[in-house]
Amino acid sequence: MRRLEGRVALVTGSASGIGRATAERRAAEGAAIAITDVQDEAGEQTAAAIRDAGREAFYVHLDVTDAVERVLAERGRLDILVNNAGLGDLARDRGDEPRRLESDGRGRPNGRLPRHERARRR
Ligand SMILES: NC(=O)c1ccc[n+]([C@@H]2O[C@H](COP(=O)([O-])OP(=O)(O)OC[C@H]3O[C@@H](n4cnc5c(N)ncnc54)[C@H](O)[C@@H]3O)[C@@H](O)[C@H]2O)c1
Repeated sequence: MRRLEGRVALVTGSASGIGRATAERRAAEGAAIAITDVQDEAGEQTAAAIRDAGREAFYVHLDVTDAVERVLAERGRLDILVNNAGLGDLARDRGDEPRRLESDGRGRPNGRLPRHERARRR
């Protein structure tokens, strides 16, 4: 279970939901985890919970548009990027704006939703 020993991983939107679960799993496999999100309090709590479990984690405020510079400054490398941030049920409950959160379908965050997706959500 330590196949990621010595690796540094960044999971976007990992203060909660699928991102948090993904981060916890990578941490259990040995990676040092950059918990990144726009929810600072929840992100700090998630990183602390991972550390309390004896793993390595730290929180970085990261809107997905800000990319990876902070992680490189912190750890000097980035081996794994899980680009999870988006609009899940919790975000929907908060009334977050889909266009700010979703990919444009070509791997670029914060672009416009693809036309078929915009139509589907109307
Ligand atoms: N939960 C599902 O059943 C499901 C199904 C299909 C796809 N998805 C996708 O999986 C992803 C995660 O879903 P979830 O249910 O865990 O959602 P969630 O709302 O529980 O968590 C999403 C996280 O992303 C963060 N986030 C939102 N915008 C951000 C931004 N611009 N920069 C950084 N962080 C940001 C939120 O603060 C939150 O912590 C989403 O992209 C969602 O669309 C979820």
